[in-house]
Amino acid sequence: MRQSNEAGDGCETPADYEREHEASYWRRFYKQINFNEGSPFFEYTTSNHETPRLIIDIGCGDGRDSFAFARSGKQVLGIDRSDAGVDRAQRRSESEHLDAMLQFALCDVSDAPALRELITNTRGEMAGEPVCFYMRFFLHSIPEEVQDTLISTLTELARRGDMFAAEFRTDKDENNQHVFGDSHYRRYQNADDFSKRLSDEYRWRITFETEEKGLSPYKDEDPVLYRVIAVRP
Ligand SMILES: C[S@@+](CC[C@H](N)C(=O)[O-])C[C@H]1O[C@@H](n2cnc3c(N)ncnc32)[C@H](O)[C@@H]1O
Repeated sequence: MRQSNEAGDGCETPADYEREHEASYWRRFYKQINFNEGSPFFEYTTSNHETPRLIIDIGCGDGRDSFAFARSGKQVLGIDRSDAGVDRAQRRSESEHLDAMLQFALCDVSDAPALRELITNTRGEMAGEPVCFYMRFFLHSIPEEVQDTLISTLTELARRGDMFAAEFRTDKDENNQHVFGDSHYRRYQNADDFSKRLSDEYRWRITFETEEKGLSPYKDEDPVLYRVIAVRP
């Protein structure tokens, strides 16, 4: 599905339908897939000496990059609305004895009060240290209004020195072949528009941005991605 507004399967609203359809897609996905290494975006972010010690991995899935960050010495909270992804990640964190560094929480980011509480408590446990809000392959997985809620909430809670790190597919990727098909939700947004809003409206200072192929090739696919690092001035 690219963007669906049709209710179905006995769901009451298009939003219910979207949630149900996507939940079962990601439940199946996380049963099949198993990445043992962090992504190239993790490598890029972790090599930046400015990256804070506390990472909030938003839309972490089954924790691929959350685990990589924890193993590199970061303190990590991974959040996702997929019960399958979060359950599996939390059990793995405990069995690998990483749970002092790495926790997971179930949260739908459209629920701003729940997100606010998670971020506030996590920062509190870390004595107010700066946070990196990390979002890999996440912003193309949520509708525009959910993205607006998310970025407004992060901006409201942000303090000087916090980092915003995101990588997502852009409109230049829409007509390419996708290894995992097109049966689940993806929103291909314009990188220049996103960049302008992040800096002019939300007032994050962009320190690095690029839109290109070659950032995260996988099997036969080399998606066009936008990668951005910004800091809270
Ligand atoms: C493409 S996966 C990315 C997973 C991970 N960041 C990675 O790079 O491997 C997108 C994830 O977004 C999650 N997601 C979608 N909508 C969400 C929402 N409203 N709140 C929280 N998580 C959501 C899905 O459950 C899925 O795990």
